Amino acid sequence: MTRIVGGIGTSHIPAIGLAMARKQIEEPYWRAFFEAYRPVRAWLEAVKPTVAVVVYNDHGLNFFLDKMPAFAIGAAHEYRNADEGWGLPTLPSFPGNAAFSWHLIEQLAAADFDLTTCQEMLVDHGFVVPMQLLWPQAKSWPVRTIPIHVNTVQHPLPTPRRCLKFGEALGKAIESWPGNERVVVLGTGGLSHQLDGQRAGFINKPFDLFCLEKIVDAPEVLANYSIRDLIELAGTQGPELVQWLVMRGALGPSVRKLESNYQVPISNTGSGMLLLEKAA
Ligand code: DHB
Ligand code: FE
Repeated sequence: MTRIVGGIGTSHIPAIGLAMARKQIEEPYWRAFFEAYRPVRAWLEAVKPTVAVVVYNDHGLNFFLDKMPAFAIGAAHEYRNADEGWGLPTLPSFPGNAAFSWHLIEQLAAADFDLTTCQEMLVDHGFVVPMQLLWPQAKSWPVRTIPIHVNTVQHPLPTPRRCLKFGEALGKAIESWPGNERVVVLGTGGLSHQLDGQRAGFINKPFDLFCLEKIVDAPEVLANYSIRDLIELAGTQGPELVQWLVMRGALGPSVRKLESNYQVPISNTGSGMLLLEKAA
C-alpha cells in the first residue's frame, strides 16, 4: 500500500542554493532560515519517504512563453538540472519513477485532469533548491522524484480553486498506486514576491502569515481568491502559492501542522515553510 507520509511547503528562492554553495549558512542573514529546516530534515530522516512528488513552476528552463502547459508531469527515469543563469551549481540528475508517473497520469486523466506528459524534463531552481535544502548531505538522492509543473508564469494561470482540486485528485491517485511507497508531497514557491515592474520588491507579511495559517485548516479560503487577487495581495510572483494548494489538497481534508517558519525578506521574498502530516 502506498501512503502519503506528509507534505512540505517551501519557498524555492535561488539565493538559498547560492548560500549553500558558498557555505554561508552560518552567516547572520541565513542562520535562522537554515536552522528552521533542521527539524524538517530530522522528520525526513525518521519517516524515510521513498518518493517525492515535487509540485513547482518551471521558470523558463524547460518550458518557455511560446509553449506553456497549465499542468505538466515528468514520466522519465531521470531528470536533469541545467544552468539557468543564477550562478547555481548544476546538481546531479534526480532519479524518477516512470511507472508511478504513468499511474498518476492515468488516474488524473480519469479524474478530468489532462496533463502534459514529459518523457524528458529539465528541472530548475523551483525543484532543485527545495531538494537540496531538504537533503543537504545526500551523496545520492534518497528518494525517487516525480516533478509536476503548474503554470504560474504565462497568463492565464490555473485558478487557486482548480489547483486545490487538482491536489485532491493527485492525493487519491498517489494512494491508489499498488506499490509500497512512502510519498512526501512538496509544494514550492511563494510566498509574496514581485521580481519585476513598478512594485518590484513588494512583500506582504500580514497576507503571508494569513496564508500560512489558513492553508492548514481552511485552504478553501485561499482557493476563493482569483489570480488577480493574489497578484494584488502578494505580488506578480505571489500566484506561486497555488503549488502549496496542490500539496495541501493532496493531504486530504484534515492535517496536523508539525513545523512552520516565516523569514522576511529572503532575497526578494517573504519566505515560508510548513511541514504537515495527514491527520488520522
Ligand atoms: C526569487 C524568488 C523566486 O520564487 C524565484 O523563482 C526567483 C527569485 C527571489 O526572491 O530572488
Ligand atoms: Fe519562483
